[in-house]
Amino acid sequence: MGAPPLRIWVGSDHAAIALRQAIVRHLRSGGHSVDEVGPQAGERSDYPDAAEAVARAVAEGRADRGVLVCGTGIGVSIAANKVPGIRAALVHDPVTARLAAEHNDAQVLCMGGRLLALEYAVDLVDVWLQTAFEARHQARLDKITALEAGS
Ligand code: RB5
Repeated sequence: MGAPPLRIWVGSDHAAIALRQAIVRHLRSGGHSVDEVGPQAGERSDYPDAAEAVARAVAEGRADRGVLVCGTGIGVSIAANKVPGIRAALVHDPVTARLAAEHNDAQVLCMGGRLLALEYAVDLVDVWLQTAFEARHQARLDKITALEAGS
């Protein structure tokens, strides 16, 4: 059974346009409502721009989830995690994609378009979407929230 339809924002910089477009196509074909942020082929853009747009959409409740890709996934994950309330996880394989949901309840998934094959990365999105958060980890997330609040 597939994941229930969600509002998902997908963003990239110029280094991961092909992966962004593959993810958008895949999510739309799965029935999700998708907003796309980022440059077209031949254009350049800085990864914090897409990261901010996607992370703010999630933090403000305009999106249920976000997916961000840049060359390595590092830049977008650093930037997205600056937006209060966002848990953006950089994942590389099915194990980290699963644990990002199961342990960290990451609402934003980050990947490297220069590191992963397209189909492999698209599969990681499915793994993440189809994995439920395990409530036994909630106390750790509460500590992250407290850290962010400066308490
Ligand atoms: C852009 O060249 C590259 O630095 C960016 O896509 C990303 O990998 C940064 O973390």
